[in-house]
Amino acid sequence: MKKILELKTGETIIIRHLIKSDINGVWYNFNKVIEEGLYLPVFLPVRTQIEKDSWYLNMKKENEICIVAENPDLKEPYNIIAQCEILNSEWDAAKHVGILGIIVKENYRDLSIGTNLIDFAIRESKKLNNKEKIILSSFSTNERALHLFKKLGFKVIGIRKKQFLMDSKYIDEILMELWIDDYLNEH
Ligand SMILES: CC(C)(COP(=O)(O)OP(=O)(O)OC[C@H]1O[C@@H](n2cnc3c(N)ncnc32)[C@H](O)[C@@H]1OP(=O)(O)O)[C@@H](O)C(=O)NCCC(=O)NCCS
Repeated sequence: MKKILELKTGETIIIRHLIKSDINGVWYNFNKVIEEGLYLPVFLPVRTQIEKDSWYLNMKKENEICIVAENPDLKEPYNIIAQCEILNSEWDAAKHVGILGIIVKENYRDLSIGTNLIDFAIRESKKLNNKEKIILSSFSTNERALHLFKKLGFKVIGIRKKQFLMDSKYIDEILMELWIDDYLNEH
C-alpha cells in the first residue's frame, strides 16, 4: 500500500513501507537529527553498515513497521525525506502496544509530512500487527513534536522529570499514548 502526497512546495512525495534500498537514507536522516542535538537522547551517529543492516534485518524478523516518505526526484540516499517506525514492545504481554518514533528532514518540516506519516503508520500497525495502542516519548522542549502529537489525539500520561541531560541542561521526558480506535473514530 502507498499514498501520494502533494506538498505545498509543488513536490510529489510517496508514502510507503520501507524497503532494503532505503536503509542508508533512513540512517542518513537519523544521523542528521543526532547532529542537530535537540530532539533525540543519542550522542553518536550510527556509521557502520553492519549496524544499519542489522537494524533492517531485525525489523523484518520482528515484523515491525517502518513507513518512509520518498521524493522520487532525488537520488539515494537523499530520496528518503522522512521515516516513522512503530516498534513492538519487548514484553510478551504488551504485543498490542506499538512504540512510535518519527524523523522528518529539516528542510521538509512543517509541510504536513509528519501528520501523514503518522496517520499511515497507525493504520498499518492496526491492520498488519493488530496494534491497539501507540505510545511515545518526547523531550519537553520539542514544541513542534508535542503540538503534532496532541493535534493527532495523543494524551500526556506522565512526565519523567530531568530524565535527560543534554549540553549540561536537564530536560523532562513527556510520555504520551493514543488508542487507535479513538484515533480512527476521529479521523
Ligand atoms: C516533529 C516532526 C516529526 C514533525 O514533522 P512535520 O512534518 O514537521 O510535522 P507536520 O508538518 O505534519 O506538523 C507540524 C505542526 O507543528 C506546528 N509547529 C511548528 N513549529 C512549532 C512550534 N515551535 N511550536 C508549536 N507548533 C509548531 C506546525 O504549525 C504544524 O502544526 P499544524 O499542522 O497544526 O499547522 C519533525 O519536525 C521532526 O522530524 N523533528 C525532528 C525530530 C523529532 O523531533 N522527532 C520526534 C521525536 S519525539
